[in-house]
Amino acid sequence: MDKHTQTRWAEQFRRFAALECPQDPLYVAICQAVAEQPELLALMVHAPATQAKPNLLLAALHERVLAGIKHPLAGYYPSVGGTRLPDEELPALLQDFARSQAAELTIHMQTRGTQTNEIGRCAILWPALQQIATMNGKPDLALFDLGSSAGLNLGVDAYHYRYLTHDASFCLGADPQPQRPSIDCRLLGELLLPAAGRWRLSHRLGADPAPIDIYDAAATRWLAACLWPHDLVRAQRLQQALTQARQSQHALQQADDCLALLEAWLRKLPAQVQPVLFNSWVLAYFEPAALAEFRQRVASLQRQYGLIWLSAEAPALRPSGLALPNLARNATASTLWTLQWADGDATRQVALAWSHPHGAWLQWLGLQPTTAAD
Ligand SMILES: C[S@@+](CC[C@H](N)C(=O)[O-])C[C@H]1O[C@@H](n2cnc3c(N)ncnc32)[C@H](O)[C@@H]1O
Repeated sequence: MDKHTQTRWAEQFRRFAALECPQDPLYVAICQAVAEQPELLALMVHAPATQAKPNLLLAALHERVLAGIKHPLAGYYPSVGGTRLPDEELPALLQDFARSQAAELTIHMQTRGTQTNEIGRCAILWPALQQIATMNGKPDLALFDLGSSAGLNLGVDAYHYRYLTHDASFCLGADPQPQRPSIDCRLLGELLLPAAGRWRLSHRLGADPAPIDIYDAAATRWLAACLWPHDLVRAQRLQQALTQARQSQHALQQADDCLALLEAWLRKLPAQVQPVLFNSWVLAYFEPAALAEFRQRVASLQRQYGLIWLSAEAPALRPSGLALPNLARNATASTLWTLQWADGDATRQVALAWSHPHGAWLQWLGLQPTTAAD
């Protein structure tokens, strides 16, 4: 690695420590240590351009720790029971650990991407599905999760949700049980849902160009490694959701063109079922031209099959023509949930909710007046 590239990477790690992970003291200390060690910075040259980010190296190191490598560095990682706070010994231990794991780290940098599957988002998906079930009077929903990763959001009806306001709480979803994922979500304002009779997911399918095999220990360990080591709540509910997914066995398919798979699936659905296309934190992976084509193809499926599109993405990826609704929080770090459906030849679209990217809070908007994008 030449001097210029080294300086650039060192700067990126320092920036990551300052801006991206200040809530995780271990990651701040590791990023600062990496920035000072050319040998560690050199690992970044193995990553393809699309994945070359500090969090890829952080995940690669974390994976080795979760794999059970016996080394004093593990003592800093809360995710494996470590309680040691970052100290002056950490940089040397990190270097020693990276040397001992150089072969595996290099393979991770060459072949992996940071990939998560966040069921916290189901705290918004659940009420969104209830809303959809009342729109056309079809209580049987068919959920197609595009970019489903390990398919854990397909289990949305099997998780327990607790919504917390400043002075009260209420629950939705499945009843609480010791091994059942339980998701807490702070409610900003009210969650005004139409009274729905019983709705259910009669059909579900996940599709992803690179699905995670939930029966492959290395693959699911990588999912866990992409979480930050201090966040034991997310780590625990990921493991619970994986266990539940292995029992439920919802269908998950590899597809390079997920919309082609969706169309084939829609053709076979019974008429009384309401199909729902769902994507969360997926559209950022599309190039602009591919995204424009994707939107056109979805609009066509909406007209042809009555498909309702629920999209949970960064606000910049909202449907064109949809005004940005007011937000009680910082918009740049938030997810906008939108609904789109066909109304004759026109497309109706509405902003349904704002949320934290992982579902830690929800600002419900409901079916406010729609804008038409003819
Ligand atoms: C940030 S993850 C989100 C996973 C999941 N939707 C969630 O909310 O936890 C992005 C996912 O999008 C998938 N993806 C990337 N490009 C895609 C494409 N062209 N079509 C569908 N999915 C794609 C990735 O493989 C990855 O699993």
